[in-house]
Amino acid sequence: MILHSQRELGPLNTLALPGRAARFARIDSAEALRDPQLSEGPRFILGGGSNLVLTGDIDRLVLHMAISGRRLIGEDTEAVYIEAGAGENWHDFVQWTLAQGWPGLENLSLIPGTVGAAPIQNIGAYGLEVGERLHSVTAWDFDKQADVNFSRDDCRFAYRDSLFKQEGWHLSGRMAITSVRFRLPKAWQPNCRYADVAQELAARGIGDPTARDIADAVIAVRRRKLPDPAHIPNAGSFFHNPVLDAAQADVLKRAHPGLPCYPQSDGHVKLAAGWLIEQAGWKGRSLGPVGMYEKQALVLVNHGGATGGDVRRTMAAVQASVREKFGVALTPEPIFL
Ligand code: FAD
Ligand code: EPU
Repeated sequence: MILHSQRELGPLNTLALPGRAARFARIDSAEALRDPQLSEGPRFILGGGSNLVLTGDIDRLVLHMAISGRRLIGEDTEAVYIEAGAGENWHDFVQWTLAQGWPGLENLSLIPGTVGAAPIQNIGAYGLEVGERLHSVTAWDFDKQADVNFSRDDCRFAYRDSLFKQEGWHLSGRMAITSVRFRLPKAWQPNCRYADVAQELAARGIGDPTARDIADAVIAVRRRKLPDPAHIPNAGSFFHNPVLDAAQADVLKRAHPGLPCYPQSDGHVKLAAGWLIEQAGWKGRSLGPVGMYEKQALVLVNHGGATGGDVRRTMAAVQASVREKFGVALTPEPIFL
């Protein structure tokens, strides 16, 4: 393992924001984490940098997770069990499971980033969250200098949330996830409840979809709506969809009948932040080099040369507009570093 100093992180975050890490190491095995050089001082664990706002130079040790490997580890009458290294590319991993004949993750196709980051915010899209298919997680705990295992229940998954965020480990760098295990039930059912996916399948004339058909439909919808970070730097949805109690949501819905509302199983109601931002006039609008994407107002984009400060300015302006028009507070989804 080689320690670098003053490593530029611009190419390692999908918003393409500039910033240097005081110290940097690429981690390609779980054993490498035991190196005593890594145990001292503040740390940050970096995956694909697709849910990150780099606010400038950082006086920390950045560990870039590149642990590879994916394999079938077991099978019973009900499910197959698969393990993947934290540094595996998430989308490639999902496509590999499908090619092996193990459906279950297809709705999460084309989400950028790594396998190791997937549990951090419980990635979700098109009617599925990764927590529904996750079996367990192994992490290296720098404080205990030991491997720690977390079952699915230990992970306390919720909407864009997990134990790792609740404990602040995603900011402190205490835990580096090294591998993740998935449980994919053999009794597979297509999950096409999300309107965009159902419409895409209908447009393709597919009435009885395979997992591959669903993956292809999800990929097509995402390519239409979301900017490719390789061409237009972004971090996906920039804000969470706000979750309100039913009474508050009802008041808003009466005042704004077009507002998309999604009732949750616990009685709360999730609102579409993209709609709020569009109605507040920010769809396709920019402040300096940073704006909200013209085809999906929830996605903040760097039109070129932006810094973390530019991102903060646009973020604050959008939050203020939505608060003023709807009385709703928007919280950012990416991690600020
Ligand atoms: P990073 O951005 O590198 O890190 C994110 C956080 O995880 C940081 O706190 C970091 O410290 C921590 N972390 C990363 N790896 C590890 C590890 N091995 N151990 C411990 N901590 C770790 N998200 C969704 O949920 N649904 C979507 O549909 C979706 N669509 C997106 C579309 C686009 C175009 C983009 C750019 C992003 C999208 N995202 C989406 C957000 C992002 O892809 C996910 O949050 C992804 O899981 C981040 O992975 P990463 O490897 O890039 O993590
Ligand atoms: N909408 C607008 N205007 C916009 C954008 C959206 O009116 O500019 C409306 C849409 O018409 C729709 C509703 O808002 O009625 C929801 O839009 P969409 O289906 O595009 O999904 P989203 O709520 O904006 C969420 C996730 C995405 C995930 C998709 C698909 C969050 C914060 N975002 O977006 O996740 O891919 O659903 O499931 O939950 C991410 O987290 O980075 C991410 C991209």
